Amino acid sequence: VVVPVLTIDGPSGSGKGTVSRLVAECLGWRLLDSGALYRAVGYAAGAAGLDLSDIDAVTRCAQSTKIRFHPSADGGDTRVLVNGHDATDELRTETAGAAASAIASIPSVRQALVDLQLGFRKAPGLVADGRDMGTVIFPDAAYKVFLTASAAERAKRRYKQLKEKGLSVTLSGLQREIEARDARDASRAVAPLKPADDAVLVDTTGMPIDEVVAKVFAVVRS
Ligand code: C5P
Repeated sequence: VVVPVLTIDGPSGSGKGTVSRLVAECLGWRLLDSGALYRAVGYAAGAAGLDLSDIDAVTRCAQSTKIRFHPSADGGDTRVLVNGHDATDELRTETAGAAASAIASIPSVRQALVDLQLGFRKAPGLVADGRDMGTVIFPDAAYKVFLTASAAERAKRRYKQLKEKGLSVTLSGLQREIEARDARDASRAVAPLKPADDAVLVDTTGMPIDEVVAKVFAVVRS
């Protein structure tokens, strides 16, 4: 039997993380936060003192880094263990996002993470969140959504998120960082950020989260 997959791709701050989690919970499906994998490799490479432009070293790091997701003991956010260390908080920062985006442009790094991602596809179903879920990793997914929002709105959402986590950021700095990261993600040669031909596009600018969730559910029911 084919395990159904719902892919939710889009730029950072498009709401895909929150929406993916809510939809996966509702459906009782597994969740793949593929961005966390790239963040984990960027983090591990940094912790090992690697030069992020050293393709061979970073590729070996991607191949050997042990990444595990663990439900938190207090019912909060899923914990991400990188080589046994709980790096959840470090992985959230915009510095980790930028490192992830840098190493994610290396084809051999992306290749090293393919099997790990495919392994998340288990019954009864999978919600896969990222940039290339519908285009590269799960091209045969039955349901594909691509979320967008204006850069200003995405920066505002990330700002609120990071502030709530107690991180010190400025809105203007964040918007610059997000725009730089999206430009790099969209222009890279491998698995660029772009909607699959058969994805349903949803512009979430000014849209409350429950409305976005409802739109995604409509795709799964169609
Ligand atoms: O989604 P998130 O912001 O956690 O992703 C961090 C970075 O990881 C992105 O900016 C992108 O460069 C990279 N990424 C990717 N492919 C994915 C998911 C994330 O290249 N499927």
